[in-house]
Amino acid sequence: MPQPKISKLTIVTEFEVYNSAKDLDKKDAELLLAAQKMVKTAYAPYSEFQVGAAILMENGKIVTGNNQENAAYPSGLCAERVAIFYAGAQYPNVAIKTIAVAVKSKNVVIKEPLSPCGACRQAIAEYENNSGKPIRIIMSGEKGQIYIAKSIESLLPLMFSKKYL
Ligand code: THU
Repeated sequence: MPQPKISKLTIVTEFEVYNSAKDLDKKDAELLLAAQKMVKTAYAPYSEFQVGAAILMENGKIVTGNNQENAAYPSGLCAERVAIFYAGAQYPNVAIKTIAVAVKSKNVVIKEPLSPCGACRQAIAEYENNSGKPIRIIMSGEKGQIYIAKSIESLLPLMFSKKYL
């Protein structure tokens, strides 16, 4: 009996790495600052993990959001989706250029960049696929390096999209 043949698919994903916000270009640094401001007003009494997000739209508008938790835990929503759904509601058909994410936990110091959860990645992918233009994602911790993804594809290879429907 011949052995079934298999092959491997290797996916390489890349991020720009910056040592601090000082190394970012001016517009990115401003957007990250807007995300950091939103950390302060996050409603996260249960996890005590506060996340802020700021989105730069192609029309120059900045839309912000933060995580909103709920006593019925799954009813809460992450910062990225609060911001991106607001952007979609306020500016339908306007492409999203960049989303910056910042974080602060009451319990631990976050020393590495916060990377959006799977559901947020899928939500970001929807808007990138709709506009056909890459969405840059700036990820930061409370300290340490900052990563920038040039597109959601870096965070969500082999993504499910409307092309299957
Ligand atoms: N959270 C975000 O807002 N964004 C992420 O990328 C990861 C997690 C929130 C959800 C919840 O309110 C808290 O952080 C802990 O999971």
